[in-house]
Amino acid sequence: MSEKPEKFIDENGLRLDGRKPNQVRDIKIEVGVLERADGSCYLEFGKNKVMAAVYGPREVHPRHQQKSTRAIVRYKYNMAAFSVEDRKRPGPDRRSTEVSKVSREALEDQVFTEYFPKSAIDIFVEVLQADAGTRTAALNAASVALADAGIPMRGLVSACAFGKVDDTLVVDLSKDEDNYGQADVPIAMTQDGKITLLQMDGHLTPEELKAGLEMAQEGCRQVYEVQRQALMDHYAKMQGESTEEKDAETKAQSKEEVVAPEETEASDDVDTEAEDVEDKVAGESEDEEPELEDVEEEAEVEEENPAEDSEETADEMDEEPDTEEDELNE
Ligand code: CDP
Repeated sequence: MSEKPEKFIDENGLRLDGRKPNQVRDIKIEVGVLERADGSCYLEFGKNKVMAAVYGPREVHPRHQQKSTRAIVRYKYNMAAFSVEDRKRPGPDRRSTEVSKVSREALEDQVFTEYFPKSAIDIFVEVLQADAGTRTAALNAASVALADAGIPMRGLVSACAFGKVDDTLVVDLSKDEDNYGQADVPIAMTQDGKITLLQMDGHLTPEELKAGLEMAQEGCRQVYEVQRQALMDHYAKMQGESTEEKDAETKAQSKEEVVAPEETEASDDVDTEAEDVEDKVAGESEDEEPELEDVEEEAEVEEENPAEDSEETADEMDEEPDTEEDELNE
């Protein structure tokens, strides 16, 4: 564990890592990184690295946990043994149980659980690298993973802590600020500003709390923008891929069509000819039995007018016997 720094804020008003008091660490979000999860998100918040996976809505096991009118939301926060400086003993402990509980409560209200009675929505978050603020990083990732899973929600939840170092309020505490600072207040809020998580460690005056909340609110807004953008980029990419697939399908179809029209025309011709023949046969059989002479003469007439189209020929065929008969009579 590093030693307590002499000063947290330098003469220029900047923090140890060069940030301004109201500046959050860099955030990087990747959506849909796990194939087997319904929704997933990899998130880096400063040096924190977390992976969130969402499964569901799915059947509830054990069954006695199921609720007849809504889905249950379960949240499991876990710190990998290698995520911290001193190896963390694997498995659940009091801290991870507490973080899981408050995080579930921070998200649950945003989910339309009433849409999925008797089912479960499971959220798992693995902290791969910890550097203060893992519960807020985990919540940010979980919220995006829920959206990626297509779970209907009122909105995204964004989280960010604020605290006090050297009697100065700062947002999104770094490891040293968290370990040796005067206060640490992790906060989560909905995109319309409703606070869904608020914990406090340390001492603050009511005024400091109020001012700190405003700073954290601004921090959450910055987080929200990155979450939103990550989701939009992901779906734009997916849309692009599906558009490419559609284009490929359309191309394949149009290739088929290049061949198809001839086939269609040809088959149409065949149909028309077949109909003509049927008409001819029907017409002949309805009118009168054609005599051998008539048929021969008809063939001669057809030979004389090869350019005439089939319809005309068909018409002629209906009329011809009379005309020819007349001619013969003459
Ligand atoms: O991570 P978060 O700030 O939400 O929770 P915390 O309980 O205030 O922990 C602060 C930091 O202490 C963590 O982010 C870790 O970097 C570190 N820590 C650790 O080194 N070993 C643990 N078993 C738990 C936390």
